[in-house]
Amino acid sequence: MTPHINAAKGDIAETVLLPGDPLRAKWAAETFLDHPREVNNVRGMLGFTGTWNGNPVTIHGSGMGMPSLSIYANELISTYGAKTLIRIGSCGAMQEDVNIRDVIIAMTATSISTPSRGILREINYAPCANWDLLNNAVKAAGAKATPTHVGGIYSSDVFYDERPDLNEQMIRHGILGVEMEAAELYTVAARHKARALAVLTVSDHLITHEALPPEDRERSFADMVDIALQAAFC
Ligand code: HPA
Repeated sequence: MTPHINAAKGDIAETVLLPGDPLRAKWAAETFLDHPREVNNVRGMLGFTGTWNGNPVTIHGSGMGMPSLSIYANELISTYGAKTLIRIGSCGAMQEDVNIRDVIIAMTATSISTPSRGILREINYAPCANWDLLNNAVKAAGAKATPTHVGGIYSSDVFYDERPDLNEQMIRHGILGVEMEAAELYTVAARHKARALAVLTVSDHLITHEALPPEDRERSFADMVDIALQAAFC
């Protein structure tokens, strides 16, 4: 057990999918896994373990933002032996040719800072995805109708951003979308020799200001979960 996870040691699989929202973890586990069972509920941060095509998988909420994700990623890796961690979540699009419902597979994650900054200090570390997971995810996404983009994303510390110039520079430098967790996930995983990837669905658009209607969210989310599962095991 850890301060934030009350699962027994063997209750967490080596492969963990990390949606931000714990209720999304419940939905994804019930929809995609065989025999899902709840393995964590501390602070309402639900985690479930089951199997996908016979492979053990845990789907566990990460919470919103890098400090929250960092707690779960550290504990899942260090205490429970997680080796493959894939964030599944939403992001805001930052390029004209990226549309609502599209999938973004994050090759790199730029940030102003992450919780790991205290360790890295003056180093501008470049958090990047695990190649095998990235390659598998791109192949899995290629077989789907949903348009997919592969490239850099921006992991922001704030949802309500009062610095429009930051987004302008991200857009100018080709960043595909903004979310709030991947840079720390990639950094923590690298530090502990685990594999990490983020597969994201575009839920809103920073240039056109469109947003995904609530009734479409589930279907768009399903493509992303399937891509993440295939990336882990194919
Ligand atoms: N900003 C930050 N995180 C997000 C956004 C956004 O616009 N959309 C989805 N996650």
